Amino acid sequence: MKKIIITIDGWSSCGKSTLAKQLAKELNYVYIDSGAMYRAITLYFLRNSIDWKKEKAVKEALQNIQLEFRTNDVTKKTEIYLNDENVEYIIRDLVVAEKVSEVAAIKQVRDFAVAQQRKMGGKKGIVMDGRDIGTVVFPKAELKIFMTADNAIRVERRFKELFAQNPNITIEEVKNNLEMRDYIDSHREVSPLRQAEDAMILDNSNITQEQQLKKALEWVKERA
Ligand code: DC
Repeated sequence: MKKIIITIDGWSSCGKSTLAKQLAKELNYVYIDSGAMYRAITLYFLRNSIDWKKEKAVKEALQNIQLEFRTNDVTKKTEIYLNDENVEYIIRDLVVAEKVSEVAAIKQVRDFAVAQQRKMGGKKGIVMDGRDIGTVVFPKAELKIFMTADNAIRVERRFKELFAQNPNITIEEVKNNLEMRDYIDSHREVSPLRQAEDAMILDNSNITQEQQLKKALEWVKERA
């Protein structure tokens, strides 16, 4: 089978990364979590008290940010490094989630991330998930998937994930965060979350992970 580019976009917490990882494993593709890049940039801004409303401050800060994906020798999973530090887990914290949509709406930040994402896709055999991957980053991708799921199901899934790391978290906090991010991500001026016209829609509210993988693999076969 010919190697292709697969893009997965959609709302927050509807299982994009789960499907992307399943596909990468099954097809022996590289998986890139583009949201992790925006999260790592946000973490840097928070840690260094960067005022991201100031263009000059953002420009200077971005010059000091180096992002890299490395494969963990033990788990074989890809993890993101911010200036040589593994930040894969810390970027999932609600403190970062609360600000990431604001940071991801900044044009300079998007230009910085998109340039690196396009470079990673140069060799095909890649599956990348995010919000603008099929519309802006790889508009010519062979397979574009747009994922969606019922709101209540998405909240419950993310709550379970976050609760495992932080038992103080409430379902209300998670619900508010998802609603806020979805709103900002789909209403921003630069590259808002949109379904590409040629995307295949996958609603996984009522199907198992095995069923969603089977469906996506059928689409890959058709395109590759
Ligand atoms: O996929 P995620 O939830 O980890 O992404 C975190 C945030 O980053 C999300 O709320 C919006 C932003 N993002 C984006 O604007 N464009 C992408 N391609 C990926 C993520």
